[in-house]
Amino acid sequence: MWSSSSLQQPLLLQLLVVQSLLVAVVLAQRSTTPAWNTLTGNRPLVVARGGFSGLFPDSTSLAYQFALSTSVSDVLLWCDVQLTKDGFGLCLADVKIDNDTDIANFYPNKSTTYSVNGVRSTGYFSVDYTSDQLVNVSVVQGIYSRTNLYDGLPMQTVDDIAAISKPQPGIWLNIQHDAFFSQHKLSMRSFVLAASKRVVISYISSPEVGFLRSITSRLPKVTKLVFRFMGQDVVEPSTNQTYGSLLKNLTFIKTFASGILVPKGYIWPVDSGLYLQPHTSLVSDAHKAGLEVFASDFANDNLISYNYSYDPLAEYLQFIDNGDFSVDGVLSDFPITPSEAVDCFAHLGTNATKKVNTLVISKYGASGDYPACTDLAYTKAISDGVDILDCPVQLSKDGVPFCLSSIDLIETTNAAQSTFSTLATTIPEIKSGNGIFTFSLTWDNIKSLTPSILNPYTNYSLKRNPKNRNAGEFVTLSDFLSLAKNQTSLSGVMIIVENAAYLAKKQGLGVIDSVMNALSKAGYDKPGPQKVMIRSTSSSVLLKFKEKTNYELVYEVDETISNADNAAIADIKSFASSVVINKDSVFPQDVLFLTGTTKTVSKLKSSNLSVFVETFSNEFLSQAWDFFSDATEEINSYVTGAEIDGVITDFPKTANRYRRNKCLNLGNKTPPYMAPAQPGALFQAIPPGAAPPAPAPVPPLTVSEVIEPPLPAVSKISPSPAPAGTKTGGQGNAQSRVTICAALLSLPVLLASLLLI
Ligand SMILES: *[C@@H]1O[C@H](CO)[C@@H](O)[C@H](O)[C@H]1NC(C)=O
Ligand SMILES: *[C@@H]1O[C@H](CO)[C@@H](O)[C@H](O)[C@H]1NC(C)=O
Ligand SMILES: *[C@@H]1O[C@H](CO)[C@@H](O)[C@H](O)[C@H]1NC(C)=O
Ligand SMILES: *[C@@H]1O[C@H](CO)[C@@H](O)[C@H](O)[C@H]1NC(C)=O
Ligand SMILES: *[C@@H]1O[C@H](CO)[C@@H](O)[C@H](O)[C@H]1NC(C)=O
Ligand SMILES: *[C@@H]1O[C@H](CO)[C@@H](O)[C@H](O)[C@H]1NC(C)=O
Ligand SMILES: *[C@@H]1O[C@H](CO)[C@@H](O)[C@H](O)[C@H]1NC(C)=O
Ligand SMILES: *[C@@H]1O[C@H](CO)[C@@H](O)[C@H](O)[C@H]1NC(C)=O
Ligand SMILES: *[C@@H]1O[C@H](CO)[C@@H](O)[C@H](O)[C@H]1NC(C)=O
Ligand SMILES: *[C@@H]1O[C@H](CO)[C@@H](O)[C@H](O)[C@H]1NC(C)=O
Repeated sequence: MWSSSSLQQPLLLQLLVVQSLLVAVVLAQRSTTPAWNTLTGNRPLVVARGGFSGLFPDSTSLAYQFALSTSVSDVLLWCDVQLTKDGFGLCLADVKIDNDTDIANFYPNKSTTYSVNGVRSTGYFSVDYTSDQLVNVSVVQGIYSRTNLYDGLPMQTVDDIAAISKPQPGIWLNIQHDAFFSQHKLSMRSFVLAASKRVVISYISSPEVGFLRSITSRLPKVTKLVFRFMGQDVVEPSTNQTYGSLLKNLTFIKTFASGILVPKGYIWPVDSGLYLQPHTSLVSDAHKAGLEVFASDFANDNLISYNYSYDPLAEYLQFIDNGDFSVDGVLSDFPITPSEAVDCFAHLGTNATKKVNTLVISKYGASGDYPACTDLAYTKAISDGVDILDCPVQLSKDGVPFCLSSIDLIETTNAAQSTFSTLATTIPEIKSGNGIFTFSLTWDNIKSLTPSILNPYTNYSLKRNPKNRNAGEFVTLSDFLSLAKNQTSLSGVMIIVENAAYLAKKQGLGVIDSVMNALSKAGYDKPGPQKVMIRSTSSSVLLKFKEKTNYELVYEVDETISNADNAAIADIKSFASSVVINKDSVFPQDVLFLTGTTKTVSKLKSSNLSVFVETFSNEFLSQAWDFFSDATEEINSYVTGAEIDGVITDFPKTANRYRRNKCLNLGNKTPPYMAPAQPGALFQAIPPGAAPPAPAPVPPLTVSEVIEPPLPAVSKISPSPAPAGTKTGGQGNAQSRVTICAALLSLPVLLASLLLI
């Protein structure tokens, strides 16, 4: 009765076929697994809740097929079974079906109220409709933060998904409500026993003791029973005990189940501030009782704890590779990510070798974890394994060069709430709107401000680590260089120079000379193990450096482009060896789907320009749907798909770990979960009616956008009056202070070298 998808998805099907071929290869290849701390010693299982429900509407054929084609080869397809009035078993996420389907369009104003486990609940229930009455009802996205562009797919029955799963992986049926269906004269027990004669069921889970005990002796051997724990205070309907109290007797659970399924907080609890607590003893206790442990509620777009820095892979690794234990399986809406975790990232060790040479370049240090450009952001970036540490140079009123993400102090300090708020002005050459600019305050003033963490996604209520909100101190360029110079793991520094013309002409400040001086004082003007990159959006700034130094020059294109014309390339090559572009200049997007691949990277690379791309962030809101809310997938698509030379990231840990994973450089044995996205495939799979209008084409970079007038000379302007209550430090003073500071900082280095002699 339930026909298969009526939508046309030729490209997606092609994608599925390609990826299924990959699955077959991987199946043959993966056998040498290291020891796992699971009950059996086998690697943890990946269970796809409703298929790939993080992207497609829950429990649709597309969701299930996509889970199969992008996950480990033995992924289990999870179906939440709901019975119709005539006893058909549908896969739908909830006992109320109105969030997940368009039933209200067919039966308007027909919602009813029933008691579900003693709680009165209003909505549409499958028990009120026969399969014939539901024939035209289709599945829609029930979670509003996910895309609804694939809405309208047909509902699937248990038999449908058993057919989809064939021949390899198995299915997992969750019977969330047996008592409720019994009240409506429908027997889950009869349904499940009958279904187990038609199809192979690998697992059956339920939060009802009575239900599991009623089927335990009647099922084929291949079917394992799993008791599902709900919230600790929730009452289990057949024993009247809370789940918290049932947890105390795992021996009892073992009498009717071979495993348990628990919300992830049962294992790694999270406190009220959303920080991870020490783990409980649940996994080892359950393993001692002979029970397998499955953890639920994994979704890349719902990480909960700040300890993961918004990196979903980090969360899975916490459950499967923490040195103490491993859960036996995870229930996920995004099965591709646990597949990577299990097969590519677990047991990597701290110093696994790099498999790709792509540079990891910090964005204001590890500014996803600490306030941008503070000492803590920089030391974190270094310990996270960054190659190139970046410093956007700003000048204070007294001419001290220091690192800060913006020339406007309001963006990353408390300047607007400080006594310096009166210094706010509007300078259209720099930015529209008010700012409190670095050149209006002395370095002493600036040092006294409190740093604040960048929070690009607070308008979607994703806050970066509140404990680090105001942590760290700002550093001068010389502090930065001494810090960097001392690190053998760094391959270089990237100094970013902007607003040079304005500062020279209007403020009498020579940023280029300040940078050159600081670099020579730190010894970076002589050949050494670390390289210096100078980055600017201004060709005239880079030409000035080319005239006087041998540093590597990096041109930043500050607009989205689709290509670059020959004259523009020729001009860039006359002063730079690398180019920074944004992500959209590589893979353009529409309604958050990739629409294809531009010519930008191939054109720049064929002209021998290295290509660095920004900004790679862990927050899923920064990523197109094609990357499955998984920062690692995004990086992989740019590195192995577009072959870029460097990623610029505010979360360098994620990018560095990516380079060391075991699934790189496997050629045609690359597993599907480490294959790059196919830009445009998911976009073209959007049903015609729902497809958005085509976006306007993006133009290429032209030479007139690259060429600039030469820089003006640094003007001699008399120092403007200092803000009230602060001492004026002239440029001369500042330079000598910087010198002393640099000398002090390099003293330990000097001492160390003396001691070595
Ligand atoms: C339906 O969706 C709303 C909004 O997302 C949510 O609050 C509610 O819990 C959902 N109900 C069910 C039964 O899933
Ligand atoms: C459904 O109920 C609303 C208000 O309760 C009413 O305005 C509307 O006309 C009803 N629709 C139908 C199709 O009965
Ligand atoms: C389903 O749709 C078909 C075609 O529009 C229609 O003939 C039929 O009556 C519908 N069935 C139900 C139960 O709504
Ligand atoms: C559970 O509690 C309900 C209401 O208090 C009672 O009707 C029922 O008999 C109890 N069931 C068991 C198994 O104790
Ligand atoms: C736990 O369950 C087992 C098996 O049902 C039972 O023999 C034992 O008495 C229970 N222990 C406690 C403390 O309730
Ligand atoms: C989580 O982060 C907090 C704050 O940094 C820290 O105190 C805690 O130990 C971390 N939890 C774990 C399990 O590492
Ligand atoms: C990491 O490197 C250190 C020093 O090179 C070595 O002693 C250690 O065994 C390595 N650890 C792993 C897990 O490979
Ligand atoms: C959220 O903030 C970002 C960055 O400031 C902005 O681009 C985006 O439009 C905002 N979104 C909403 C929904 O306000
Ligand atoms: C350089 O590294 C050494 C050894 O790790 C350390 O003692 C010293 O303080 C460092 N110097 C600076 C300026 O960070
Ligand atoms: C790029 O560099 C290679 C090797 O350095 C050289 O052979 C080639 O001609 C260069 N191509 C262009 C377009 O400059």
